[in-house]
Amino acid sequence: MARILITSALPYINGIKHLGNLVGSMLPSDVYARFQRQRGHDVLFLCATDEHGTPAELAARSAGQTVRDYCAEQHDIQAKAGKAFGLSFDHFGRSSNAPNHQLTQHFAKVLEDNGLIEERVEKQVYSVDDQRFLPDRYVEGECPNCGYEKARGDQCDNCGRLLDPTDLKNPYSAISGSKNVELRETRHLYLLQAQLQDEIAEWVEAHPGWPQLTKSIAKKWLKEGLRDRSITRDLQWGIPVAYEGEKRAGFENKVFYVWFDAPIEYIGVTQEWALANDDVSDTEWKRWWRTDKGAEDIRYVQVMGKDNVAFHTVSFPATILGSREPWKTVDTLKSLNWLTWYGGKFSTSENRGIFMDQALELLPPDNWRWHLMANAPESDDASFTLEHFALVVNKDLADVLGNFVNRITRFCKARFGEEVPAAGEYGEDERGLIATLQKSVSAYTEYMEQMEFRKAFAELRGIWVAGNEYLQVAAPWTTIKTDEAKAAASVRCALNLIVLFAVLSRPVIPFTAEKMFAIFGLNDAEAGWPDDIAAALNRFKGGEAFIPPDVLFAKIEDEQIEEWRQKFGAED
Ligand code: MF3
Ligand code: ZN
Repeated sequence: MARILITSALPYINGIKHLGNLVGSMLPSDVYARFQRQRGHDVLFLCATDEHGTPAELAARSAGQTVRDYCAEQHDIQAKAGKAFGLSFDHFGRSSNAPNHQLTQHFAKVLEDNGLIEERVEKQVYSVDDQRFLPDRYVEGECPNCGYEKARGDQCDNCGRLLDPTDLKNPYSAISGSKNVELRETRHLYLLQAQLQDEIAEWVEAHPGWPQLTKSIAKKWLKEGLRDRSITRDLQWGIPVAYEGEKRAGFENKVFYVWFDAPIEYIGVTQEWALANDDVSDTEWKRWWRTDKGAEDIRYVQVMGKDNVAFHTVSFPATILGSREPWKTVDTLKSLNWLTWYGGKFSTSENRGIFMDQALELLPPDNWRWHLMANAPESDDASFTLEHFALVVNKDLADVLGNFVNRITRFCKARFGEEVPAAGEYGEDERGLIATLQKSVSAYTEYMEQMEFRKAFAELRGIWVAGNEYLQVAAPWTTIKTDEAKAAASVRCALNLIVLFAVLSRPVIPFTAEKMFAIFGLNDAEAGWPDDIAAALNRFKGGEAFIPPDVLFAKIEDEQIEEWRQKFGAED
């Protein structure tokens, strides 16, 4: 049994997440955590809301709330939605909670003690009317390259050129639109990442097994050369720049930059989890994080969208390695591409795309979980369309899996009663099925271990199909006319298959798996992982009672697709 720490990238606090965010980190990490728990490993699966920064302040303001109230409310909304989607976090914390404050201040202090932090004065755009310094992307103006009038201070969305806010002509505040902006001097703490270049490059090299996407992003950043970066901001909301309770002189109105404190919350949420479980000894969380306190053999897996990779392969490691303390670092870093909405962006403000709460108003979680994971944006960006979603649900879930379960349980009830039939022996068809499944289950297991989700779920779909094909060939509805014992054996085999399917499918469609277990009065919490398919298909020997379930998956009708297209802004 291994100990596996799994973290999902922390969803930002400003509003409920869309399906693209969900499949970018929270859902794949959940599927993986569920899989490893079923394999019998000791899994700790954590997530939290990422709550600091300007966008949170602005979102709170437009909601007419204090940022504190806003974050508390949005945290609960996201926690509820995650639960409803079956995200099985051992804890869902908050980056604004006390443990992260202490840890973030601790890291800054030791980095400074190690000579890796320096105060620097820089010039930044200040909006007089907003009475605040503007983060780069909140300064807009005319692009010096293409003349586009709404270029952002970090990048022009029209021509793609990376910009510095000072490059913009006629700059204005994106917050208020005010043109009353000027450059002002401001003092910040800089993390001297350039000094850590070789060390981080070496650390990255020591992880040859990272997926291609992760490695290529990490290497691109290393090749460009690490730059020192400022880790403080002129803001109210965030973690105060203080060491041991003392605010740093000159930094009384500043906080740490959100991207400095957010990944530290991976450690913070582990403390929150320990506290929530009444562990006040300070030892339990360290067993997951401190290699001098029992974490040396932890396997640490992070899951995130591709825009997060640089922060996890370069910036966060700079914090951790630069501390010169024995912290656990990530072993496997799974990154995903974008899921698009009909090839474009999901957008709350423009009402494009489906968000987590809306999805569950339409259909149960497993429909979404299956489609998203079976079509996860792994090797490339992937486009979500309602048409494709309906096709996949109707085919894979309704026609293949659902139909199998409903058909055989109903047939058995009608002809043999509500008990697994005991008569007959397995023959050639069953032995062939067992041999086929033995291979595909081991391929499926291997893909899951590798977190190759598309391949894994293609394999799982193949396993369901093999069950249907077996039933087609064994055709108990025909053999029963001439050889009742043979028909009984194939019905028994098919009923055993339901449990095997439930076990294998549980990481991705847990709610359905639970229903499938319940057919036989089994508790899904006891699901393990099958090594021996012959043994799995001989679990029920006959005489076990069952109750045929209601239809597992309803088909999605064309009228529903049309209605949803209108409602969620589908484009042709
Ligand atoms: N909130 C960030 C995003 O949505 C992700 C933060 S991951 C963290 O892109 F761990 F670093 F916090
Ligand atoms: Zn431009």
